[in-house]
Amino acid sequence: MKVEGRWRRSIELAEAGDAVVVLDQTRLPYAIAWLRIDDLAGAARAIRDMHVRGAPLIGATAAYGVALALRVDPSDAGLAAARATLAATRPTAVNLRWALDRMGAELAAVAPGDRAAAAFAAAARIVDEDAAQCEAIGRHGELLLRAAAARRPGQPVRVLTHCNAGWLATVDWGTALAPIYKAHEAGLPVEVWVDETRPRNQGMLTAWELAQHGVPHTVIADNAGGHLMQHGQVDLCIVGTDRTTRNGDVCNKIGTYLKALAAHDCGVPFYVAAPSPSIDWTVGEPAEIPIEERAADEVRWVAGRDGDDRPARVAVVPSGSAVANPAFDVTPRRLVTGLITERGTTPATAAGLAALFPEHARP
Ligand code: MRU
Repeated sequence: MKVEGRWRRSIELAEAGDAVVVLDQTRLPYAIAWLRIDDLAGAARAIRDMHVRGAPLIGATAAYGVALALRVDPSDAGLAAARATLAATRPTAVNLRWALDRMGAELAAVAPGDRAAAAFAAAARIVDEDAAQCEAIGRHGELLLRAAAARRPGQPVRVLTHCNAGWLATVDWGTALAPIYKAHEAGLPVEVWVDETRPRNQGMLTAWELAQHGVPHTVIADNAGGHLMQHGQVDLCIVGTDRTTRNGDVCNKIGTYLKALAAHDCGVPFYVAAPSPSIDWTVGEPAEIPIEERAADEVRWVAGRDGDDRPARVAVVPSGSAVANPAFDVTPRRLVTGLITERGTTPATAAGLAALFPEHARP
């Protein structure tokens, strides 16, 4: 990913190898600030307070959180406590549990004295695999963009995306945005409709990272997508996922379901970019997915910059009104045209997923 023209990852090992640094997403798009994470508490705080966010990056940060914790206490109890602390930070993205389970499995048989070094190596593997998976999703998804381009020769492909499922939400490349970056790099003209994504406005992160790469994009209010689809201005939608059931239902940022409904009604293909760590093979039905309820203040207040470019925060809800803030919703598999995984694109069905990932298929 490019930050001010330089290739970086959203999470990197500090030079001395004793900490990690992450691009602080609470400061974007107004300031580029790297946050140093030195210990377990710092990793847990970074995830809980959304300095890092996006399912794959949450998993990667948690993996390094375990490694940092083991530098202080490499005992079995220390490992278990680190996993429990990190698991409690956010409930919906299954990548968190996936990364913690994998760290636990890889470290259980390692002698405590060797555990911290083994944990840093294991976390580095998770991070590298994430980047490779996202790049593969980019390659598979690019084919879908090329197919859309062939339907409107000489015109740019118009993609609508929701939330931020770009490189900021992963280690590199992104999930939903990876096909866009691949197509853009290959010279295929792409234009992106960027949903604002209230209440936390992750669309601003999407706009910022697309701008860093020079990809043409337009930010729209969340409610505009249906209208644009109805009027033939969207060729396809691509979104990310925080947890996909083994049957193909997709839990993602609140508002994704409404976009899928509109896409279905308008005949617009609706794709979900789903790296395998975001697939929960233990969950069959959407009701089993825990939906995070976040603070009411995220809806009550909007943060940005004032006319003098100073940070500002304004209240937008009458003080006497109640507020609800469910952070995710589930799009039923019948509304999903296909899942773009690192192994290829498949129908959002149990059979489709099992064919691509036979090691997880149920007898
Ligand atoms: O609450 P967030 O910002 O962590 O939610 C992120 C999303 O919903 C993303 O779409 C999802 O994690 C996929 S990221 C590649």
